[in-house]
Amino acid sequence: MAEKSFKYVIVGGGVAAGYAAREFAKQGVKPGELAIISKEAVAPYERPALSKAYLFPEGTARLPGFHVCVGSGGERLLPEWYTEKGISLILSTEIVKADLASKTLISAAGETFKYQILIIATGSTVFRLTDFGVQGADAKNIFYLREIDEADELVKGIKAKKNGKAVVVGGGYIGLELSAALRINNFDVSMVFPEPWCMPRLFTAGIAAFYEGYYANKGINIIKGTVAVGFGTNGNGEVTDVKLKDGRVLEADIVVVGVGGKPLTTLFKDQVDEEKGGIKTDAFFKTSVPDVYAVGDVATFPLKLYGETRRVEHVDHARKSAEQAVKAIFASEQGKSISEYDYLPYFYSRSFDLSWQFYGDNVGETVLFGDSSPESPTHKFGSYWIKDGKVVGAFLESGTPEENQAIAKVARVQPPVSSLDQLATEGLTFASKI
Ligand code: FDA
Ligand code: NAD
Repeated sequence: MAEKSFKYVIVGGGVAAGYAAREFAKQGVKPGELAIISKEAVAPYERPALSKAYLFPEGTARLPGFHVCVGSGGERLLPEWYTEKGISLILSTEIVKADLASKTLISAAGETFKYQILIIATGSTVFRLTDFGVQGADAKNIFYLREIDEADELVKGIKAKKNGKAVVVGGGYIGLELSAALRINNFDVSMVFPEPWCMPRLFTAGIAAFYEGYYANKGINIIKGTVAVGFGTNGNGEVTDVKLKDGRVLEADIVVVGVGGKPLTTLFKDQVDEEKGGIKTDAFFKTSVPDVYAVGDVATFPLKLYGETRRVEHVDHARKSAEQAVKAIFASEQGKSISEYDYLPYFYSRSFDLSWQFYGDNVGETVLFGDSSPESPTHKFGSYWIKDGKVVGAFLESGTPEENQAIAKVARVQPPVSSLDQLATEGLTFASKI
């Protein structure tokens, strides 16, 4: 089979690849120099839409509506854009072998791709209950959500089981966003997770109490402190119920599983340094192998603000790390240098009429401020994290753009605080003064 050769290759065609492509164009990449090789059949898109408007019964999002870079208010890169720029979008093509020493990639269909500079942007994959040997986990109508073809399967399931019963396994991002989306689709929803409160990797008990109360008021049944240990099926192999470890059995027409994921680094195993489960990079997203960069979910990079390395599985970092890597590539070709990546962690989520943002680090003591009652008409509340006498993280539900900017600034500036009680009383006013 013919060999194709490019100056630059991005393996993976998700969020980071799309934002990298835009930066390549800004930096003046020449026609024929860049290829994006993606397992998915569509041009890079804003993945967060898949767990939100993609699933709504009304105001539904569909491609080409949410191709990158609309999520950050930028130009929408349609497939034609790549053609115009002479960027090869090689879709429905999975790379199954990478040899970094000979700068060669091989696809599942046996095609060979050579590159001079490689950007690894393979993102994450989800854990499956079949991986853990959960009995009946291969039943029909048990869904996972990472890529657009999985979202399409889920949409079909939602239509086929209209007004039915849904069980959501997992209490993280997917758990919370999918429970809401299914409820909006008029499913009778139960959400099951092992921890004492939802989203424990970010939420404090106080934050979680608001969301759990709000979800309960929307009719969602929240079951904590247990896990799914088996699934019942009917004669067609479709799921009928979920067996919980505590002995309860929940009827289910569909099940959605969101029990976390892991970065897709296996192609490069033993060829590149890894750390904290990801591919280790410097502040320009260069890996330990010359001419190989890693961006987005797969990169473990120096988080300058905290003096340690981190991996971040969120869209804002996927966008910014991709731009930083491409800027660094062009600068080094021109013998110039650029500033180190100096990232302020930023995560967000939306469900029902709720919308929160978080900036900084969720370590140390916490104070809750504002009206965090689930019945609150405004539901404007937040939390600060305080470490070594300084505010290092801030969370806000239902903030205005100005208020969100204020909490971002607090997390960046890390102002000192003398009294936690005073901080709780001042709430947002504290942030607005920084
Ligand atoms: P991304 O997963 O976007 O892209 C990786 C690409 O590589 C995919 O196209 C994949 O097919 C391809 N690929 C992998 N292996 C390959 C191979 N061997 N050969 C070829 N192609 C290969 N974040 C946030 O901050 N706010 C939010 O609201 C959400 N919402 C959200 C919803 C859902 C459903 C998911 C799954 C994730 C989110 N996220 C999020 C997280 C965010 O989307 C995520 O961090 C970024 O998409 C990461 O961007 P990457 O480009 O690194 O991976
Ligand atoms: P997550 O890490 O947010 O949550 C995983 C959850 O799985 C845990 O909180 C726990 O409740 C649960 N869990 C673990 N084992 C379980 C078990 N055996 N049974 C039941 N529950 C179990 O991961 P996720 O929600 O699956 O999300 C996957 C990826 O997608 C992550 O990278 C996430 O950052 C990303 N994502 C982000 C957003 C966002 O930023 N708004 C939205 C959707 C997805």
